[in-house]
Amino acid sequence: MANHGWIHHILLLATWGSITFLPLQAMPPPPPVQCNQTGCTLYNSYGVWPDRTPCSVPTTLYPTTEEELLLAVATAAKNNLKVKVVTKFSHTIPKLACPATNSGNSIFLSTMNYNSEIAVDAANLAVTADSGVGLRDVIDAVEAAGLSLVAAPYWEGVSVGGLISTGAHGSSWWGKGGAVHDHVIGLSLIVPANESEGYAKVLRLGLQDPLFNAAKVSLGVLGVISKVTFSLEQAFKRSITYNFTDDDGIEDKFGEHAKSHEFADITWYPSKHEAVYRYDDRVPLSTVGDGVNDFLGFQSNSILISKSTRATEKAMESARNVNGKCVMASTFIGYKKLIANGLKNNRLIFTGYPVVGHQGKMQTSGSCLYSPSRRIDTSCAWDPRIKGLFFYESTAIFPAQKFRDFILDVKRLRDLNPESLCGVDIYNGLLIRFIKASKAYLGQTEDSVVVDFNYYRADEASTPRLNQDVWEEVEQMAFFKYGAKPHWAKNRNLAFLGVNKKYVNFNKFVQAKNKLDPRNVFSGEWSDEILYGKKGGVLADGCALEGVCVCSEDRHCSPSKGYFCQQGLVYKEARVCRYSQSSMS
Ligand SMILES: Cc1cc2nc3c(=O)[nH]c(=O)nc-3n(C[C@H](O)[C@H](O)[C@H](O)COP(=O)(O)OP(=O)(O)OC[C@H]3O[C@@H](n4cnc5c(N)ncnc54)[C@H](O)[C@@H]3O)c2cc1C
Ligand SMILES: *[C@@H]1O[C@H](CO)[C@@H](O)[C@H](O)[C@H]1NC(C)=O
Ligand SMILES: *[C@@H]1O[C@H](CO)[C@@H](O)[C@H](O)[C@H]1NC(C)=O
Ligand SMILES: *[C@@H]1O[C@H](CO)[C@@H](O)[C@H](O)[C@H]1NC(C)=O
Repeated sequence: MANHGWIHHILLLATWGSITFLPLQAMPPPPPVQCNQTGCTLYNSYGVWPDRTPCSVPTTLYPTTEEELLLAVATAAKNNLKVKVVTKFSHTIPKLACPATNSGNSIFLSTMNYNSEIAVDAANLAVTADSGVGLRDVIDAVEAAGLSLVAAPYWEGVSVGGLISTGAHGSSWWGKGGAVHDHVIGLSLIVPANESEGYAKVLRLGLQDPLFNAAKVSLGVLGVISKVTFSLEQAFKRSITYNFTDDDGIEDKFGEHAKSHEFADITWYPSKHEAVYRYDDRVPLSTVGDGVNDFLGFQSNSILISKSTRATEKAMESARNVNGKCVMASTFIGYKKLIANGLKNNRLIFTGYPVVGHQGKMQTSGSCLYSPSRRIDTSCAWDPRIKGLFFYESTAIFPAQKFRDFILDVKRLRDLNPESLCGVDIYNGLLIRFIKASKAYLGQTEDSVVVDFNYYRADEASTPRLNQDVWEEVEQMAFFKYGAKPHWAKNRNLAFLGVNKKYVNFNKFVQAKNKLDPRNVFSGEWSDEILYGKKGGVLADGCALEGVCVCSEDRHCSPSKGYFCQQGLVYKEARVCRYSQSSMS
């Protein structure tokens, strides 16, 4: 069997990964802004934007205090410069932080060095942080004071300002819910002003302010967020158990699951008929346990392993080895089950369920971010410098009552050919999370279900991918058939088509934007394209391959490589690029 070689290889990789005692040291992610004499170029954390074109401006400023931020905005407003805020992390996938194609009159304002204040107000159960402060630092300060932040995205490599700007969330239908911005109780915003006010001013917004619901999720287009105040609760622990089981009735179980467990989620591996229910509940601080949630996907990986995983996946793509992908998915899922996705009872290894630990150690993770020394053997698996993992990330947010039908459609698609869905199960399958109704204009107005899925992206824009039609169909089902909203910080461009019509308070947001920034200092072509859900200009050859467009002609796919524009298998209105051998001459 030709397969044996690489199966052995993957098993070996899985075994290596479990040896956590190797003296490997992590390489921290590269700084997202790189400057030289001619200017500064911004990258996201994957090192490539959705449209693969660069994003540059002449200058980047690095203010360290709120006064310096104010002065920077004033100088920019006075000189008619456009401003985009960038962070130390730049973990947003779309080009929200990019000014325009012709950006000679733009600057980046980096919050990388604006990170000194984290003021815990224990009496009022609140913390106020400078917007450049990292999420991990806020959590550690809060926990040290005997308090807990209840909601957080699963990935800790984000700044306070950046995470609320895109509506980042964890998972919960309880209390204030899983979206972090719904735990924000105060926010300072620096906006342009007229000459008599000194060209810029600081607005201190509280819960009652009419602008607050616009400012909670603002994509960076209202102004610079300088400080954020989060509400807190008394410190607590969490108890987590993963139940790896079948996906029978998942379409009927998800809602009850979310109601039964405060931090519930579900990972669904459709090709395997497998679902992993996360039973995740708050427990009293006195509960025994000092566990951590060191999520496998965010752990440091040996650079060698990341590269060979990518090379294996690439080889299977070019050999059209669907079965190989399915075996790879099984191996990875088996390994995740063995190590409980990275939960560690005693901070070192997994010894059994439930894993109990402090909220601060369980709510979010990202151990691949840290560099304990100068030795460089490991990195985050997607580090753009190492030719490691490279994938798309689609995230659709459904009104809860529409989610059942979506699952049933995906099951129908799966049942036509289960193997065609293996590609996504190599990553994290479909991760299903919960967020509660919010008053934020660009947040969710009703209790919602979020589904994330990652899948192989080719090195070259022009290279079609194995079974790409299936993921295009799921994507179009989500965004067009069921009207799901795209997560602002993820997705391929087509997901944003018509997004403005999906938000009932969209016009209120635009009114606030026009009031706060009438001269569009903080808006540009790229962020407009996302916010207003505009169609990108001409439909170039191959545009559907990368999700820049939905195909309507074969040339939007790759006829020369056997990929033609065809209708969906379950959602007939979908237009997807499907491989068809018989059409090849
Ligand atoms: C590996 C990974 C895992 C992730 N996991 C999750 C998850 O579990 N849940 C989730 O919801 N999201 C998740 N995300 C998405 C992530 O939460 C968002 O991309 C978040 O916005 C990133 O924050 P950042 O600090 O990197 O901001 P950036 O990406 O640098 O900025 C985001 C936007 O906010 C603007 N901005 C930043 N700071 C300010 C400021 N001070 N004032 C005004 N505007 C500002 C920027 O201009 C930009 O438009 C993940 C991303 C990655 C790469
Ligand atoms: C400087 O950066 C620009 C992009 O900002 C890039 O095109 C150019 O190649 C870089 N020059 C050098 C010498 O690195
Ligand atoms: C400047 O703005 C303030 C507050 O919006 C307003 O009261 C004032 O009239 C403005 N001044 C000028 C010259 O426009
Ligand atoms: C896991 O889920 C299955 C299906 O819902 C259930 O029958 C089983 O009891 C669960 N196992 C545990 C340990 O909770």
